Amino acid sequence: MAKKQKFTGFTLFVALIAAIGGLLFGYNTSAISGAILFLAKDFNLSTIAQEVIISVILIGALVGACFGGILTDRIGRKTTLLLTSIVFLIGIFIVMTADHITALVVGRIILGFAIGIVSLAVPLYIAEMSDPGHRGALVSINQLAITIGILLAYVVDYFYAPTGEWRSMFGIALIPAVLLFIGLFFIPETPSYLASKGDKKKALKILKKIEVNTSKSEVVLEKRSSKKMGSWKQLFHKSLRPALIAGIGISIFQQITGINIVIYYAPKIFQLAGIESATSAILATMGVGVINFLMTIVALWLIDMVGRKPLLIVGLIGMSLSLGVLGIGFLETTKATSVISIVSLMTYVSFFAISLGPVAWLIISEIYPMGIRGRAMGIAIFANWTCNYIISLTFLTLIDFLGKSGTFWFYALIGLFGLWFVIKKIPETKGKEFKEIQNYFKKKAAKN
Ligand code: BGC
Repeated sequence: MAKKQKFTGFTLFVALIAAIGGLLFGYNTSAISGAILFLAKDFNLSTIAQEVIISVILIGALVGACFGGILTDRIGRKTTLLLTSIVFLIGIFIVMTADHITALVVGRIILGFAIGIVSLAVPLYIAEMSDPGHRGALVSINQLAITIGILLAYVVDYFYAPTGEWRSMFGIALIPAVLLFIGLFFIPETPSYLASKGDKKKALKILKKIEVNTSKSEVVLEKRSSKKMGSWKQLFHKSLRPALIAGIGISIFQQITGINIVIYYAPKIFQLAGIESATSAILATMGVGVINFLMTIVALWLIDMVGRKPLLIVGLIGMSLSLGVLGIGFLETTKATSVISIVSLMTYVSFFAISLGPVAWLIISEIYPMGIRGRAMGIAIFANWTCNYIISLTFLTLIDFLGKSGTFWFYALIGLFGLWFVIKKIPETKGKEFKEIQNYFKKKAAKN
């Protein structure tokens, strides 16, 4: 295991700037929940039109994830982020000034596209700017920013709800988008990417800036870069298969264990649990946002200490148990079962926030070889957004088919499959250099 390096304030600074991308991801996926009621009124939207407006952002994101993978490998991590911040500005502007449903749909596809790209480029960028001893917490700042974005969206929606100003609900996102655009001029390209493009001198200079004690910077750089960018053939080579399976699997389980039915449908679930007043349901939803945020801080503190795998294991057991109890709470609606439902929903979110939330993004940014990292992550993140789309679209239908309790027990069962997958397929990556992690997977592929 690599010796714990000290990181500089500069590393934290670059991570915070990049993580504004995460904030835009969280905010723009969630702000619609409060805005849709007023959009529906202003544009006289049918249920189908509302569903389209809500879900197109996810379609944009899954396309964005693919592009993001290619772009980050081709033009670099930082340039990709810079271009994407402009795409965000365009998307937000179109949505906030829309006076027709077509503009809304187009604007949200563009926003989704930008979200898909940052969901890949931000963890990738931060991972390559971090030393192995702090990589977990630094990359997870992105997840923390996502949860802040979600919480902010809930608060802003609540604030503007009395006047129904949906344009302001969307427009506020211009502030972080501008900050990201400006901030990117103050942060460098990653040393790993520069070295792989042949600019070793600049790579070493940046490495020295982001880590203290790098007396052996050449050796460190060697461990984190490759001689050149890899080919598509390398991406689908047998030796990469276990890592591809691990990344795709963890991304899929992050979504199919149901987190976004809570994030997107929380007020609805609270109403199903017997909270009748809309205001109470919205307040309880903010509670979800707060818990999600606070428990992510706990994850940041633990992730480089106890490691990724223990968090995933405890988290998945906790999520499945909470979902099981939630299902019991839904068997009948009394005061007592309402309380059970609300408490178990909160514990479910807490367990997600210390496990699959941050760890899924982290693992996929750590396990792929430098030369094809962006594209390999693109495949895993494409799977993430595809499953997000399917789960969000099928939730209400699933309730019709399996009933409320049956639906949550179904997700609990998936959580147990996730547990099995993590135990079998995910290695511990805490404190390891990229090359050590890749060697583990290579050896695994050779054994198969
Ligand atoms: C997931 C999102 C989810 C969010 C909740 C992220 O890691 O990718 O789909 O909405 O966590 O905090």
